[in-house]
Amino acid sequence: MRALITGISGFIGGHLYASAPPGGEIWGTYLNADPGPDAARALRLDLRDAFALEAAVAGLRPDLIIHAAAWSRVAFCEAHPAAAREVNTGVTATLAQICRRRRLRLIFLSSDMVFDGEKGHFGETDEPRPLNLYGRTKLAAERFVAELRELGVIVRLNLVYGPPRYGGSSFSEEVIRTVRAGRPYSLFADQRRSFLSVQNLAACLWEIARGDFSGLIHLGGSEPADRVVFARKLAQRMGLDPTLLIPSSTSAASPAVRYPRDNTFNLALARRILKTPLLNLDDGLALEYP
Ligand SMILES: NC(=O)c1ccc[n+]([C@@H]2O[C@H](COP(=O)([O-])OP(=O)(O)OC[C@H]3O[C@@H](n4cnc5c(N)ncnc54)[C@H](OP(=O)(O)O)[C@@H]3O)[C@@H](O)[C@H]2O)c1
Repeated sequence: MRALITGISGFIGGHLYASAPPGGEIWGTYLNADPGPDAARALRLDLRDAFALEAAVAGLRPDLIIHAAAWSRVAFCEAHPAAAREVNTGVTATLAQICRRRRLRLIFLSSDMVFDGEKGHFGETDEPRPLNLYGRTKLAAERFVAELRELGVIVRLNLVYGPPRYGGSSFSEEVIRTVRAGRPYSLFADQRRSFLSVQNLAACLWEIARGDFSGLIHLGGSEPADRVVFARKLAQRMGLDPTLLIPSSTSAASPAVRYPRDNTFNLALARRILKTPLLNLDDGLALEYP
């Protein structure tokens, strides 16, 4: 397998790169955060530069691109809509064009944020209705990948947790860092998610990469929970002071940005087509924080 992963200096891209199956030639891109000597095949590339991107693909000749780079912070996107559209939607559109021309497979990492959180247990056939700009940029990007038909894979991820590999961060790391510093962490108590371990996710993504699936698939952990339940389990595992975990409502803690309430996933398709099991919270946390 010759694969190119965008965004290996980020949280998920880093884990994906580090867990690549043996025998392939896997390259990764970064922009500001050099992943260091552990990532031997890393390329500095601003993905907004379409000519540089095209040249990199022409030079590396991958047969698969896994697109993990993005502006991934919901609040950042809301505050910087043009930058978010340019990277999240524009870069994905360029990559889709390159993949169509060169007949390459493109696996695009999208998000549960394309849903409005009203009904929960969202399946692949449920109608997206994003509440925030980040969700809208991801949904717009999905449409370019869907046009690739048998060459396109859209993987919608639920909230991913675990320690970073080369860079980036996660919800679980923010909780650990804040509480270890003796500061309170305010948790959106009214948000339910299908929390997914990053190593479990990486295994699923490599299984998808090795197979011939195309189209849309949801990935999440097998045990839906709200953020308070998740953070308390994490605190117990890591020996953190649980009294520093402060439940709050989303509207009170984040008046400027709308977040979906229940964006848990229906995982029937993933369970049917993947051999990799989707982990519950205890098993996922044990894998990430042994
Ligand atoms: N983390 C989650 O819980 C979650 C949930 C659902 C979906 N997702 C999606 O999964 C993907 C990966 O998320 P993540 O948490 O790993 O994100 P992340 O840690 O924020 O990493 C983002 C990556 O994108 C790169 N990047 C941003 N702009 C770039 C540009 N113009 N040119 C080149 N590289 C650029 C960054 O490079 P530098 O840092 O080197 O600048 C970094 O490697 C994203 O598409 C995100 O939307 C994540």
